[in-house]
Amino acid sequence: MAIVVIGSINTDLTIQVPHFAIANETVLGNGNFSTTQGGKGANQAVAAAAGGLPVHIVGKVGRDAFGDAAILDLQSAGVDCSHIFREADHSTGIAAIFVDPDGNNSITVAPGANALVTPADVQAATALIADARIVMLQLEIPLAAVTETIRIANLHGTLVMLDPAPATMPMPDLDGVDYLTPNEIEAEALTGIAINDDNGPERIIAELRQRGTKQVALTLGDSGCCISSNDTLTFIPAKQVQAIDTTGAGDAFNGFLATGLAKGLPAAEAAKTAGAAATLSVTRAGARENFPGWDEVQAFLVR
Ligand code: ATP
Ligand code: RIB
Repeated sequence: MAIVVIGSINTDLTIQVPHFAIANETVLGNGNFSTTQGGKGANQAVAAAAGGLPVHIVGKVGRDAFGDAAILDLQSAGVDCSHIFREADHSTGIAAIFVDPDGNNSITVAPGANALVTPADVQAATALIADARIVMLQLEIPLAAVTETIRIANLHGTLVMLDPAPATMPMPDLDGVDYLTPNEIEAEALTGIAINDDNGPERIIAELRQRGTKQVALTLGDSGCCISSNDTLTFIPAKQVQAIDTTGAGDAFNGFLATGLAKGLPAAEAAKTAGAAATLSVTRAGARENFPGWDEVQAFLVR
């Protein structure tokens, strides 16, 4: 029942800003910046671990203080870090994050050691992938490593969940993907179809399934999410909350979705849990340090 994440590990440097700077503009942020743990892969691993299942991460950090802190944080969340490799000549990945008063963010990532994850690193984790129920991927590591993961997982019957984020990155072949989890921007980048009154989630999901992925969980920000299960679509509205910081909402969603599915929940139930976890996460600052626990999410669902 284990989950394996092959993905990025970053340190997040966050500034609260009154508005995002445009080109050649300097904006004064509010007070101090915060240094917190991030990276889509690491965030998703921590969210997945909240469900109590064994979670392993495969990735790379530098031989620097940020790398030490990232590994300690993952270990304290219960994530197995035995497949995190250290790169002497590269820094740990860094994300410069700006958060506006509405909780929206603007993120620029310096990949550092994340850019050095290779197919050979993934092959070294073949036994983990083969034994796992689900392998989780995002696009903050090289495409070759993502593609190799899909190949190995398909070979061993391990489910593949791909979060196609960031939206601008080259995409693997979707044929080997079991669950694709785009947000609206990523879905539009993949299909060329913007969600609007004429094109609803149904059309986007049908188009993505046409392109190879078996199922789709499309996140829709404060509107919630929509998940397919074979040919049935379930729309799950988000509870109304005051968003403080949406950083990591997609990661909370992915981690809880994977855990829910690995625990054997039907897709719509797993997505309900995932949506609730993500909604709770936007009510708190930062990415993963304030992710909710499994029980807290269950309590929120019945509130
Ligand atoms: P991120 O900000 O991490 O990049 P994302 O863009 O990948 O997130 P979204 O579609 O914005 O993904 O949000 C993921 C999930 O988070 C949604 O499906 C929803 O459950 C929850 N969510 C996001 N924003 C809000 C909000 N303002 N209110 C309630 N729930 C929200
Ligand atoms: O999804 C949020 C994450 O994206 C942040 O933690 C940041 O590190 C970037 O990878």
